[in-house]
Amino acid sequence: MCGVFAISSADINNAGEKVIEGLKKLEYRGYDSWGVATSHEMKKEVGKISCATVVFKEDSKAIGHSRWATHGGVTSENSHPHTYKTVTLVHNGIFENYLSAKNRLLQKGEKFLSDTDSEVIAHLIQEQLDLSHTPETAIQNVSQSITGRFSIVVMIEGVEEIFVARRGSPLIIGRGKGELSKTTFIASDIPAFLEYTNVVNYIDDDEMAIISNESVQFYNLLSGEEIEKRNIEVSWKEEVADKGDYNHFMIKEIFDQKQSLMSAINHTEEEIQEFISVLQSGNGVYMVACGTAHKACIAAEYYFSQIAGRKINVVPASEMPAFERFINNKTVLFAVSQSGETADILEVLEFGKKRGAKVISITNVESSSIARISQNHLPLRAGKEKAVASTKATTSQMALLLLLAYADNNRLNEGRLVLQSLASSVNDLLNPRYEEYIKSVAETLHDCRNIFIIGRNSLFPMALESAIKIMEVSYIHAQGFAAGEMKHGPIALIEKGTPCIVLGCDSETISNAMELKSRGAKIIGVSNKNNILFDQWLKIPSAGTAISIASLLPIQILSYYLATLRGLNPDMPRNLAKSVTVK
Ligand code: AGP
Repeated sequence: MCGVFAISSADINNAGEKVIEGLKKLEYRGYDSWGVATSHEMKKEVGKISCATVVFKEDSKAIGHSRWATHGGVTSENSHPHTYKTVTLVHNGIFENYLSAKNRLLQKGEKFLSDTDSEVIAHLIQEQLDLSHTPETAIQNVSQSITGRFSIVVMIEGVEEIFVARRGSPLIIGRGKGELSKTTFIASDIPAFLEYTNVVNYIDDDEMAIISNESVQFYNLLSGEEIEKRNIEVSWKEEVADKGDYNHFMIKEIFDQKQSLMSAINHTEEEIQEFISVLQSGNGVYMVACGTAHKACIAAEYYFSQIAGRKINVVPASEMPAFERFINNKTVLFAVSQSGETADILEVLEFGKKRGAKVISITNVESSSIARISQNHLPLRAGKEKAVASTKATTSQMALLLLLAYADNNRLNEGRLVLQSLASSVNDLLNPRYEEYIKSVAETLHDCRNIFIIGRNSLFPMALESAIKIMEVSYIHAQGFAAGEMKHGPIALIEKGTPCIVLGCDSETISNAMELKSRGAKIIGVSNKNNILFDQWLKIPSAGTAISIASLLPIQILSYYLATLRGLNPDMPRNLAKSVTVK
């Protein structure tokens, strides 16, 4: 999390303003507060950087940060950059052992202005400089003493260069070209500088770079040896994040599913077969993902079991340490992620690689860290997903996973037909009348306190995902259950009028819905057929094995309207960030 962006230039003198503009494109990484430092000025504010209009004195160097708070509350003191004497820095990640370092420095009489782990890094670097180490050695020594994932960008008073170092958290160098040939950009993600250049150097783990107006030099952070880096031209076009006629990105991205499902399954037969052959080569497949992508993986567990007869182990990435003993050189680790930067997943993949496991992945962001460390990768091609709540990337993940399950059973063409038919029905379904109808259902629910969702088979993970979607944007407590599980405890929560969303209308699910209705629940059915039990009905197309994907669409629209009817901004829910790069 946290967006980092910095510029060092001999071509421009408005680096401060340019850093603000770039940070606005990284706001999805964190939007609690922001700050920018040039060589002479520092501006910090609580709130979203998208609302900032700031003017700086002329300067050709600036570093900035958009924060998602980890250590210390959302205050301007805790916002980055942090300065101690001559050192000013921004930090993304977590300095896990910061407290012992801070206590030692406090005993030395040093004073801290914030509660952050990041400020301690500035003190540690200064301590090294005071011992007459060069800035590069100072940063090397400090980096070696830090545990945890981090990326830092450091300016030192009286020193022309900017210094950067990375272990775990993403950092990419953009090489200016043309009129900006003496400009270097440093960012946690490419969109920050894509309007200026598509030529990049990826900084890998345990690497640092020294950036001056004339050159960029790369070093191994541990040995200090210089490293040669290739300039890589990324094929990204700057995707203008444009809401068009929509009020929010979330609803725009829901409607993007008219096209994105097709893009997800458009990989060539060769690409799919190559991917599947790695998956089949293992003796045990572990799917690792977080949040919504994890629910897509649980759906895939059903797809692979029922279509391909393959057992896939699905584990939330953060829980994987408990199963580490099963990871060896025969294991396939299969990561699923929208951003491709989720720290919990990266940690599992890095561990797996050390054990010799094969790593494959599907991500939406093609140049992401997860994509780059995978031996085989398939992009989702859903287009930029900007709203924090994942919608189109989720259904693209599920569509591609369903296709892979068919391919695993030598039925790739059959899988394509199922998904093409789904894509075409989704294209018909997503229209203003459907949206209006779901909005009218949201009007009957938006002031309720709890919503329960049930589903069976591949609709069970959709019940879990529906709950995430409703909670994260509307802040209404929602919980998903396997339909047959309600009677084992949660049914105690049902009172007269409790809204229960029932995914599916097979006879067993309907029996479970009946048990809820008998206790006063209000039943909102999501299915291709209406049922006498349903108080309200959200129609979906018949989609065969792709029913789980179809069922999500009305829930996504419902969640969106639950949020907006409650006066909330669904694109940037409180306490969240789009890309979760801390553990
Ligand atoms: C999505 O709606 C959520 N905000 C969140 O659970 C997300 O799916 C999770 O953080 C994983 O992100 P990733 O797909 O980028 O790895």
